[in-house]
Amino acid sequence: MSYPQDCWYVAATSDEVGDGLVSRRILDRSVLLFRLSDGSIAALEDRCAHRPYPLSAGHREDDLVVCGYHGCTYDASGRCVRMPGQDNPPWGAQVRAFPVLERAPFVWIWTGTPGGERLRPPPSTPWLQGDGWSSVGERRVVAADVVLLHEHYLDLTNVFEMHPELVPPGIEALPPLEEVIVSEMSVAYTRELPQAPLAPWEAKVSGLDRLESFGRRETGTFVTPGLHKQTYSIIGPDGPELELVRTHGFTPESSGVTHVFLQISWRGGSLSSDAGAQLAGVFHEMADRDVAVLETMQRCLDEDPTPRRYVNVKADRAALRARKIMQSMVEEERAD
Ligand code: FES
Repeated sequence: MSYPQDCWYVAATSDEVGDGLVSRRILDRSVLLFRLSDGSIAALEDRCAHRPYPLSAGHREDDLVVCGYHGCTYDASGRCVRMPGQDNPPWGAQVRAFPVLERAPFVWIWTGTPGGERLRPPPSTPWLQGDGWSSVGERRVVAADVVLLHEHYLDLTNVFEMHPELVPPGIEALPPLEEVIVSEMSVAYTRELPQAPLAPWEAKVSGLDRLESFGRRETGTFVTPGLHKQTYSIIGPDGPELELVRTHGFTPESSGVTHVFLQISWRGGSLSSDAGAQLAGVFHEMADRDVAVLETMQRCLDEDPTPRRYVNVKADRAALRARKIMQSMVEEERAD
């Protein structure tokens, strides 16, 4: 297995979980999500305790879920409260309930060691909760391993080859990473770009004069195996003119397949009125190209899984650290 279990991952976005039953494969488990009458969200194992049948194929009765095969009925804690044909459900008739925490737009889930969720709270994401920020998002399922995704987004030297129209005019190469900060669980890098005029997309979003020169500051953070954060600021003489955050919730569906919850957040002084639509378009196209490369790499690995030694370059520093952190988390869990 390439991913740690003991970690909070994004299960869904808030708007996906309503009155219906949402089934999602998360960390090789089928999980059922539904919103209760008090507005909170319940997450249960999506498999009846009676027979191997998904609860998501049943229906709701208020805050209860009724299995669509013989009618066993479960509450939000996973306890079977009604079993057709007998007065009381048998002892142990229960499905696992998973801890869930909603911090819109993300619904976080813990499917790891029971009780472990109290020791490691999900990362805080204040830029996704307003305070001058606006956000737009999308979700995809990518046929590539979560480790490949983290590595890809920790090395932006691929922009010249993959996304050349996004690079500010006159910049021929990215300067080296200035700083790579590593803690026990996270990796972060920063990089400053030299002054340059605006790329067309930057001018459209920021409303700034395209011919004026600005600096750029970029950071990337592997926050946890389930969350990746990148920032990009266009900086004028008085400070940031436009601040962008690209947030990726990465949730393994299984080894080799990952749910990607993408959020683009922005704030700035003189933004164009359709900044949100512009950014959604730019980053959607970027994601299309990223996904094509990531899925191709996964296919190469699947076709020839023979371990081999790859050449690493300076820009891989942060990515390699992230890989190591994930590997050591997986090994620690195996040892436990
Ligand atoms: S399989 Fe669910 S009640 Fe029988």
